[in-house]
Amino acid sequence: TKQFGIETDSMTLQRYVIQGQSKHPEATGDFTNLLTSMLVAVKAIASATQKAGLAKLYGIAGATNVQGEEVKKLDVLSNELMINMLKSSMTTCMLVSEENDDHIEMTLLNGLFSGSRPNSPGSTTTQRGTKRTAGEAVDVSIDELFRFCLKLRNDLDKQRGYVEERRRGNYIVTFDPLDGSSNIDCLVSIGTIFGIYKKRHPGAPTVADVLRPGKEMVAAGYALYGSACMVVLSTGDGVNGFTLDPSIGEFILTHPDMKCKPRGSIYSINEGYAQTWSKGISEYIRTRKEPEAGKKVYGQRYVGSMVADVHRTLLNGGIFLYPPTASAPSGKLRLLYECIPMAYIMEQAGGLATTGKTRILDIQPTAIHQRSPIILGSKEDVEECLSYIEKHD
Ligand code: AHG
Ligand code: MN
Ligand code: MN
Ligand code: MN
Repeated sequence: TKQFGIETDSMTLQRYVIQGQSKHPEATGDFTNLLTSMLVAVKAIASATQKAGLAKLYGIAGATNVQGEEVKKLDVLSNELMINMLKSSMTTCMLVSEENDDHIEMTLLNGLFSGSRPNSPGSTTTQRGTKRTAGEAVDVSIDELFRFCLKLRNDLDKQRGYVEERRRGNYIVTFDPLDGSSNIDCLVSIGTIFGIYKKRHPGAPTVADVLRPGKEMVAAGYALYGSACMVVLSTGDGVNGFTLDPSIGEFILTHPDMKCKPRGSIYSINEGYAQTWSKGISEYIRTRKEPEAGKKVYGQRYVGSMVADVHRTLLNGGIFLYPPTASAPSGKLRLLYECIPMAYIMEQAGGLATTGKTRILDIQPTAIHQRSPIILGSKEDVEECLSYIEKHD
């Protein structure tokens, strides 16, 4: 089915998802629309990543995000692309991004107490602009307080990623718009990670709709911006890899039914934190380099972009670990938009993903930016690591 060198019957990602939806008679096409819109953002990020050096898109954007990290321009562009494409698909009701700030209420409330609130007619005689400490008696009119709270709620909704009513659908998307930002300037692979929940009730979304265990997700995946752009996706029925064909701007199925080997020979961890590892992790890593009699020595690979390290583990087998460190006692990686989506993919491909104590997909999240330790990869490698943790920790 090739004419003029053009494939005339490609299995595109969209076609694959539509085919899959035929197993869901209740499917409305919303899910397909969501993915198609999200892929537009992914293609734009891939293009920007390729051009970053030319368009001077990389480099510090001058701001820091809720994580306290320096936000690089490509982070900002990727976040805006994902938000705009997902919102305009009319299929989402809440977007939780690494770059969203959910501490907006404190900023706005301080605004109320510092007198820098919106000008309101007929307000009582309060000094304007005088610095007040929160909690000090403040005389504001009811009308002023009501209008301020309305503004607070709207700003909070926007900041918290609630989609405005008129554009609301039933899907909730958690995403890391650009993973591995520290690698942007040195042109090392970076990516986008996403997870998708479906709202299970007719009412307005609340944060409880996204603080759910990963096993309730309806889909998860990632895009990797490397030598090629690839999307790895699971909708709960195995894992498939699609590679972008830039000549037609479509993602083509190149890696059907991806499986993670039961055992690999690569361990992936930032050895710079070795001093802070638990005894179990230390012993496990030591025996990868100084194997017990009859066992193989392992190779070490660590890119520093989770998407690249996980993708290599999925393709070649082995184990990826980001355990607690001194500066990140609960681990550095974020549960909702890094650990859970990657755990979902790994388990769908026959691998495992755990904190070292709990299956990642069983964790009940309590905050949208909470962090978690993570150990994921080939089933036998993860099980062997767990045996060291059980024995030593
Ligand atoms: P992000 O760029 O989205 O903030 O994520 C960076 C993460 C992840 O991509 C990677 O696995 C980890 O940071 C690397 O952290 P260290 O540099 O501490 O090893
Ligand atoms: Mn970051
Ligand atoms: Mn990340
Ligand atoms: Mn990121």
